[in-house]
Parts: sequence; structure tokens; C-alpha cells
Amino acid sequence: MRLRMGYRDWRWLALWWHHFFLLWITIDGQTRYSIPEELKQGSVVGNLAKDLGLGLSDIYDRNLRVASEAGEQYFSVDAGKGELVVNDRIDREALCGQSASCVLPLQVLTENPLQLHRIEVEIKDINDNLPIFSTEERSLKIAESTATGIRFPLETAQDLDVGSNSVKSYTLSKDECFSLRIKELPDNRKVPELVLEKSLDREKQSVHQLLLTALDGGNPVKSGTTSIVVSVLDINDNIPVFTKPLYGVTVHENSVNGSVIVKVEATDADEGVNGQIEYAFSEHTPHSVLSIFHLHAGTGEISLVGPLDYENKAVHELDITAKDKGVPEMEGHCRVQVMVTDVNDNAPEIVLTSNPSPVREDAPKGTVVALLRARDLDSGDNAKVTLKLPKGSPFSLKPSFSNNYALVTTGPLDRERFSEYNIEITATDSGSPPLSSKKTIPVSITDVNDNPPVFTQPSYNVYLKENGVPGSILYSVSASDLDFGENAKISYSILDSKVQDVSVSSYVYINSDNGSIYSMHSFDYEKVKVFQIQVQAKDQGSPSLSSNATVHVFILDQNDNAPAVIYPSSAALGSLSHQRMPRSAKAGHLVTKVTAVDADSGHNAWISYRLAEATDASLFTVNLYTGEVRTKRAVSEQDDSSQRLLIEIKDDGEPVQSSTVTVSILLEDGLHEPILDLRQKSSEPSRKNGRITLYLIVSLASVSVLSLLTFLILAVKCIRNSRSSGSCCMRRSDCDDYKNPNRNLQIQLNTDGPIKYVEVLGGDMLSQSQSFRSCMSPMSEYSDFTLIKPSSTTDFKEVISVLDASLPDSTWTFESQQVSKDTKTTKLGVKGE
Ligand SMILES: *[C@@H]1O[C@H](CO)[C@@H](O)[C@H](O)[C@H]1NC(C)=O
Ligand SMILES: *[C@@H]1O[C@H](CO)[C@@H](O)[C@H](O)[C@H]1NC(C)=O
Ligand SMILES: *[C@@H]1O[C@H](CO)[C@@H](O)[C@H](O)[C@H]1NC(C)=O
Repeated sequence: MRLRMGYRDWRWLALWWHHFFLLWITIDGQTRYSIPEELKQGSVVGNLAKDLGLGLSDIYDRNLRVASEAGEQYFSVDAGKGELVVNDRIDREALCGQSASCVLPLQVLTENPLQLHRIEVEIKDINDNLPIFSTEERSLKIAESTATGIRFPLETAQDLDVGSNSVKSYTLSKDECFSLRIKELPDNRKVPELVLEKSLDREKQSVHQLLLTALDGGNPVKSGTTSIVVSVLDINDNIPVFTKPLYGVTVHENSVNGSVIVKVEATDADEGVNGQIEYAFSEHTPHSVLSIFHLHAGTGEISLVGPLDYENKAVHELDITAKDKGVPEMEGHCRVQVMVTDVNDNAPEIVLTSNPSPVREDAPKGTVVALLRARDLDSGDNAKVTLKLPKGSPFSLKPSFSNNYALVTTGPLDRERFSEYNIEITATDSGSPPLSSKKTIPVSITDVNDNPPVFTQPSYNVYLKENGVPGSILYSVSASDLDFGENAKISYSILDSKVQDVSVSSYVYINSDNGSIYSMHSFDYEKVKVFQIQVQAKDQGSPSLSSNATVHVFILDQNDNAPAVIYPSSAALGSLSHQRMPRSAKAGHLVTKVTAVDADSGHNAWISYRLAEATDASLFTVNLYTGEVRTKRAVSEQDDSSQRLLIEIKDDGEPVQSSTVTVSILLEDGLHEPILDLRQKSSEPSRKNGRITLYLIVSLASVSVLSLLTFLILAVKCIRNSRSSGSCCMRRSDCDDYKNPNRNLQIQLNTDGPIKYVEVLGGDMLSQSQSFRSCMSPMSEYSDFTLIKPSSTTDFKEVISVLDASLPDSTWTFESQQVSKDTKTTKLGVKGE
């Protein structure tokens, strides 16, 4: 700046000097010096004195000096030599600016005479200034699509020097895209221009740094520079590019929802929105892919939003587009291949290929029950299925081709134990962890008639009162059959057998449906005590099976028989029985003995005797148990010779049955005591007889003692039994004595003149097949006893009538044989004296 100001001042001064010269006439012509600018102080411009024609002395004398003020500033005259020397720095640019010539006029004065000399000092330019650009840096923005050859005018450089020292040329730093051209303006000014030689690529080089250099023509050359920054403006000329054209990813099919399986990445060489990428599935992506995969538009992460299923689709191919946001937008593509790996997520399945068929329980081993197949939707080991049956089931699986099996029987089946099997088959695959499933196959076992009907008991005991109503239910047997249906349908029947020569079917019949047995008769205990029915239960299987049971029917005694008087019989021997006794008889004299039997048994046959009426009740007494009639006191003279006794005989049944007998007694004077008679008779000629009688008595007595013991034991038993059964009875097997069916009925007549009494000692007319009760009568005080063994087949009254007919008034011995209907022999021994 200072330079400039100075330069202006000096122009004005130069003008002034010009007018001064016009006013002041110079002495003579021109003295001209030429010096370069910027000489050192004291540099000699020229010998002024000499050039002005002055001698050395004149210089001092005439006071040679530079007159003008401006001249004085730059030059002075050396007083010694008269030389013009440089006084101050002379800057041409300051003095003359851009003028091509710069002449500095000087006035030199000499006094004595005063003379004014005009001198010109031409200041010659030297290259002391550099070319200068007004700005240090210039920015240029060029879009990368700009066509080549386009020019961009650049700033020109300024050089204060003139002429050849001023700006002469420009150079540009090397850049393949740019060159420099100098344009010459009409005013000769040179303007540098930047020429685009090659199209720009921002992606290769976004900024070009150029250096423009201006050179002057001086020697040495001076230069000035300015930098040119070319920014390449982006245009969307690059597509987004994926890091890989194909992404392969392997995913387990059980990957959790939301997990990121892969991240695609694309880059766009452009910048700004031209480089901003958005990811998306390509337009033709099917919905099935969209429902499973989600692509994050910003990050390119692909995540799961739906379930993967290897079995459904093992490979998914996703086409992905990356778009930038430039105008127009550019897009790039890639493909993602998602390989789904199998996970053991499918349980094996058991499929029945044929429905299970019912199996007969007698089916042989290996019978095929059902066909089935195992399958697993997984693959590899995950689909290897093994089947298992529960332990102990009578079935097994027989593998056939590829995962097909036959369910076959391996053991015996029994419908009665298991009528249906629910076979639980477990299928397990070989995955890790293995999955399993179960299937239950119902197999029904069909019945085979392999079980006979079974009666609730092998034998039944039925107790039936005699005199029952015919047609009433006697008993109901029942059998059951474990089989099923017809095989278990039971019909009952009675197997034919004989009861006393009569077919049992005439006694009873059976309801074939329910086993109720009905009686067809009323039964008489006195005739039939026991019989057996063979019952058969038969099922309706084919072939049918049956089983038998025995029903033992025991007829229970009812008190339906009154005691029958055997002696003295009022019926056959006349209404009265005459007994004789001596008047001399003392108290306790045995007059007679009433004997009765009862066809019933047990209590019903327990007979007791009672004196109901008497002519003289004070004279006679009847033993309650034995029926012995004895005198209470000695007979006196006043007693009537004819006495009548009414004796009532009762049994112990319920209701009580009774009968009476009338005994008439004649008191005679001449009669002796019977024991005396016996003694007398034993010494009489009929000794043999007497001895036999004695033996009989002795043996009877001993038997009686034995019997007494036996009956005592029996009595105790009877009393016990009677608590439960209500009657005094025992089974035949309890009493060996009565095993012999051909036992004699012995009636002993003890006579004292006339028959005194009859004793029934024993006898059994029972058939072998029958059991019976033996009951005892009360013991007599003489150890005599009345034992009644009624027979069902022998009517007692018949016996009695036989007896009656055969009994003479005198002593007799009677033996008769009676043949009963069932060919049993009955021996009657009637013994008298
Ligand atoms: C998975 O998750 C997304 C949200 O993250 C939800 O919309 C979708 O219903 C889920 N899918 C399943 C199968 O749970
Ligand atoms: C058997 O059937 C008959 C006639 O239907 C019936 O009277 C009887 O009570 C039945 N017996 C049983 C044990 O059900
Ligand atoms: C049942 O009795 C009948 C006749 O006595 C006989 O034929 C049959 O074999 C018996 N059945 C059984 C199972 O004992």
C-alpha cells in the first residue's frame, strides 16, 4: 500500500517537473542517464560535470547541485568528482507504476552564472516483483457427470513489474483430469482456464488439489501460486453392492422366534442419500417367506417371526434388494439361502394299517392280531423308530418290511382272565433327546367254551319237613359259568336215579332256567328219610360242557304219629286187658308194664306214661318213663277185686300226640309172688328153659349196662344237638349198633301167668340207602328199656296185629319172618315163659 501511495505522489511530482522544465529553459540539449532501479545508495549514475562540460574546479565554484526537490531526494552530486550518485532507493514501480518507460527529469543548477541543466535519468525495470494472485485458494465444485472439455476461467496473477518482467505464463500441477489453457484477451491479457480433460469420479477422487503457478519473464523467473480445490459433486452413479452375492446360513428348525439368523450388508460408493441403503425383500417374495422371516430395512438383519419347519420346507431362498435413496434410486441384489436343519421335534407315530381283529382265546401262538406301521416326520436318526410292548403281555411285534409290524400273540390267552387287552405300544425315535409316543390297541378276546358250569357247592343238603305242600320249591341250586354268551347260558336238569325203585323224576322236577327244584309230592318221614338228586348244569356252548352236583334231601320228622300201644293192646285184645295179681302183693308189686311205640322219631317219639284215671288211685302207680304199673301199697281186703286203670301215653312232640289204654286188674287170692314162681320153675323139669331164660336175663342185664353207658353219651350229645336242631337225633354212622339192616325186632313177653309186658328190644327194617335217626326212650328203673326203631317200610300196626294174633295167654315163644316190600327181612322174636 505504501508503495502505491508513493507511486501516486511521484506521478504528481513528475507532472510538476514537466511544467518546471517548460518554464525554465534549459541551457542545452539532453543529458540522459539510464540506471536500473533499486541501485545501492552511492552508486554512480554518471559523470555529470564532465557531461556538462565543467571542470573540476567549477564543480565547487559554481556550486553544482541537483536543484529539484524530488531530484535531491534520489540523487546528489559528488562535490569531488562531479558525479551524480544515487541518494536513495529508487523503486521504478513506485515512481512510474505500470508505465512502460520511467524517466526521471532532474535539474542541475550551476551558479555564476546561474545555469539550469536538464538531465533525464531513465529508470530501468528490474524483476523485483513476483506475480501475485489475489486469493490464495480457489474452490471449484464440479459434478462428476460433467462432460469433458468444459473450461473453468481462473484468476489471473498480477506482477508489478513491467515488460518482460511481468506475468508471462501459467502452469498447473499435474492432474490427469485437468489441463490448463491460456486464453489471450484482446487487450493482450492472458487468462488461465482450467479444462476438464477426463470425466470425474467422486468415488475415486472426491477432491482434486491443483496448484496454479504464474511465471514472469524476468531473469531469474519469479512465480506466484494459488491453489485450486476442485470438489467433485456426487451423483447417484453407484449401485449398492452386497458383500456377498449369496449368503448361506444354517438354522435349526427350533430356533427361537425373534432370533437373528443372518445379517446382509451392502455398500454404496455414493455419498449422502445416494449412499443411504434400505434393504427389502424383492417384490416377488412369496408370502410364505414373509411370514417366517423379517428383514430389518436399516440394518439388514434377517430375523425369525414365524416357525421354521424342516419337515415342511428344508431350504428357504430369500431374494434381497438394497436400494439407495438417490434420484434415480439404484438397487443391488443378493440371495440368502436358509438351510433348515432337522431337530427332533416330531414324535414318532404309530399308524394302524389294519384294525385289530378279535382273537379267539384258544388262538395258537403267532396269530396276527393287527398290522401297524411306525413313522416319524423327522429325518435321519430322528426318524429311526423303535417300538416296545409292555412286559408280560402275551403279544409281540413281528417286524416286516420297512417299519411295518404285525402284532402277534405269543402266549396263551384266557378270556376269563382278560377279556380285553389294551396293548400300549411305545414308539421311541433315536433323536437326542428321543421323543416317544404311545398308542393303545384294544384287542378283544372272543370266548371259547372252555369252562364248564360250576355249582356253588359240590353237594347240597336240603332239610325238608315231611307233609309239605306238593309243588313248593324244595331248593334252588345255582351254577355259574365263566364263559360268555351262549357258552355261559346254563340249563339245569335232573339226572335220572331211583328213590326206592321209583324214578327221582316222579318226586321232583327242576326249573331248567334257574335251578329251582320243586317237590311233586309231600314226603313222609316215616317212609323216606333221605334221598339224593343228581343235578346237572349244562352250558349251551358247542360242544357243551356240564358238571354235576348232588342234592341230599333230608326229610325232617313232624309229630304226625300218636304213640301206639303195643301191650296191652286194647284194640286187638279186647277193650280191656285183664291182669291178675294176688291180693297178697306188697307195695311195689309190678302189676304190668304198658309198652307203646311212636312211629315218629326224636322228641316226637319220646313216650311218657301217666295214670289218667283209676278205680283206686291210691293203690297203683305208673312209672312215667317205663310204663310199669306197680302197687303203691299192700293190697287190703277192702280193695275191690276188679280195678280199672286208664293210662295216658304221650309223646314229646309239638303238638303232643297221645293215646290211652285201659288196664283192668283182677285181685285174686290164690296167686303167688312171680319171683317165687320163677325160682320154683327153675328147679322144675323144664330146667333147660329156665336156664336159657336166666342167661337171657344176665346177657340182657349186661347189654343193658353197656347200653346205659352208650345212651348216656348219646344223651349228652343229643342235648347238645337239640339246641340247634330241636330234635334229638343222630346220624346213623354215629351208632354202629344199627348198621345191620337185618336186626331183629325182639319183643319180650314176660308173663306171670298171663303176659305181663312186651319189650321191643331192637330191630331195623331200614333200607340201606336210608339214614335214620335213632332216638331213645327214657330208661326204665330196671334197666329195661323201650327202644323204638320205627321203620318207614314196615307199618307198626301190622306188627302189632301180627303180635296180637299170635299172642296166646300162656307162655310162648314166637318167631316170625316178615318180608317187607323192599325185600328186607324182619325177624320178630316174641318170647314168653
Ligand atoms: C414372533 O414374534 C413376533 C414379534 O416379535 C410376533 O409378531 C409373532 O407373532 C411371533 N410368532 C410366533 C409364532 O410366536
Ligand atoms: C325260578 O323261576 C321260577 C318261575 O319263574 C320262580 O318261581 C322261582 O322263584 C325262580 N327261582 C329263583 C331262584 O329265582
Ligand atoms: C354227571 O353224571 C352223568 C350221569 O351219572 C355222567 O354221565 C356224567 O359224566 C357226569 N358228569 C360229570 C361232569 O361228572
